[in-house]
Amino acid sequence: MVMPDKDNKDIETAELPKVLIVDDDEQILKQIQWFLSDEFNIYSAGDRPGAIEIFEKEKTPVVLLDLGLPPRPRDAAEGLRALEDMLELNPLAKIIIVSGNSERKNAIAAVDKGAYDIFPKPVALDELKIVLRRVCRMVNLENENIQERKPTEGGSFGEIIGASPPMQAIFQTIQKVSSTDVPILITGESGTGKELIANAIHNTGSRKNGPFIAINCGAIPESLIESELFGHEKGSFTGASTQRRGRLEYANGGTLFLDEIGDLAHDLQVKMLRFLQEKVIERIGGRQLVSVDGRIIAATNRNLEEDVRSGVFREDLYFRLAVMKIHLPPLRERGDDVILLAEHMAEAFSKELKMPHRRFSKGAIDAICKYDWPGNIREMQNSVKRAIVLAAGNSIKAEDLGLNTANTLLHKSASLKDAREATEREMLSEALRKNNGNISKTAKSLGVSRPTLYDLMARHGLQQPAGK
Ligand SMILES: Nc1ncnc2c1ncn2[C@@H]1O[C@H](COP(=O)(O)OP(=O)(O)OP(=O)(O)O)[C@@H](O)[C@H]1O
Ligand SMILES: [Mg+2]
Repeated sequence: MVMPDKDNKDIETAELPKVLIVDDDEQILKQIQWFLSDEFNIYSAGDRPGAIEIFEKEKTPVVLLDLGLPPRPRDAAEGLRALEDMLELNPLAKIIIVSGNSERKNAIAAVDKGAYDIFPKPVALDELKIVLRRVCRMVNLENENIQERKPTEGGSFGEIIGASPPMQAIFQTIQKVSSTDVPILITGESGTGKELIANAIHNTGSRKNGPFIAINCGAIPESLIESELFGHEKGSFTGASTQRRGRLEYANGGTLFLDEIGDLAHDLQVKMLRFLQEKVIERIGGRQLVSVDGRIIAATNRNLEEDVRSGVFREDLYFRLAVMKIHLPPLRERGDDVILLAEHMAEAFSKELKMPHRRFSKGAIDAICKYDWPGNIREMQNSVKRAIVLAAGNSIKAEDLGLNTANTLLHKSASLKDAREATEREMLSEALRKNNGNISKTAKSLGVSRPTLYDLMARHGLQQPAGK
């Protein structure tokens, strides 16, 4: 039963704080309405569905709730359910339980579930007015705080979000190294923001007006990479019909970002080392040396020290690149940054997709905190985007995020490493299936290089589907 208190809410009431009164006693509703409507914009409902409908539509931040609602006005079940539904929709809602002495136990149970306060029955209207004033002021203050809490100072470095201690330490390092020219090696799992950090170092440094040249050492086909990097003279090999400058040359005066450096083939590692030592390059088939003055930043999601030990990666090149190291922790080790990031993304994507900006429900926040995020920030971007498109109603619910929570919970009992392995395997086989076994497409969708994908497939014993 939804009872329209006024036929139309006119402009005067539009500015007043919104309060929803839920009670199955029409007499009480009318009384409260009459007494409070000079200061508050009162909405009323007589049962749970009606209350939820108004709560969602009008976004009433303050609710006065009687627990005994039809169809079972004698017990508190329906009222408690209404409370839970509302808090799921808006975890910040202030819900005040109206309760007589005999219902004390239920009222306490409601507070335990997240109700804001208890107000005694029979309702003394002038006292209620004072309490509501205070609660509405509180709501206003909180809204202001939410605005202030947005990651501006301390919680971010430019567009890089991170209030957690490891991220704050990284921001300090960036500031220290950006004024120097020392080579930096950035390590971290896939999707942790290595390229973003490389960009930030470039943009805060003295070479910010020079070019930022990113080369993905794993993505360029092996047959082309040498000429891509170093350039070639006309006629130096079949197909080299013109002279071409290499990508390294373009970094002159700026920053050269060698992404996925761990995927660089062995013979090119030698050439790269020579370039780093002498800062000159020689185009394929050329006789002239070209000098390049650029800052070097490399990144990898591999464990390069291990690759050095096993002989896959040259030790001398490693020491050239890793004069300074920045390790980006995986998202699951960044504490509350997950919430900061998710909220920031929700706002940005809503704008981008021209969708209404919905907040995360309490359940969604819980799910975000519990989840392991094996694909890190990139995975979160996909998941939040999906949620924004799928979410109905006022808030984003846990299930909109499409996180494999059943699996996460299952994994929780196993070791973290096992869980990570299992999720990785699952993501790999799903991506392979979706892309019909096409390696390039699969690698791209997962945000890893082809060699990394091959490694991962071998490690998990996954085959490329037949016929590809
Ligand atoms: N701390 C952060 N705050 C905001 N956005 C971030 C943050 N870290 C990463 N991102 C975003 O997440 C996405 C992935 O980051 P990036 O490409 O830099 O990761 P990566 O470590 O290079 O991943 P990969 O190893 O897969 O190449 C980018 O869109 C980036 O802007
Ligand atoms: Mg990258």
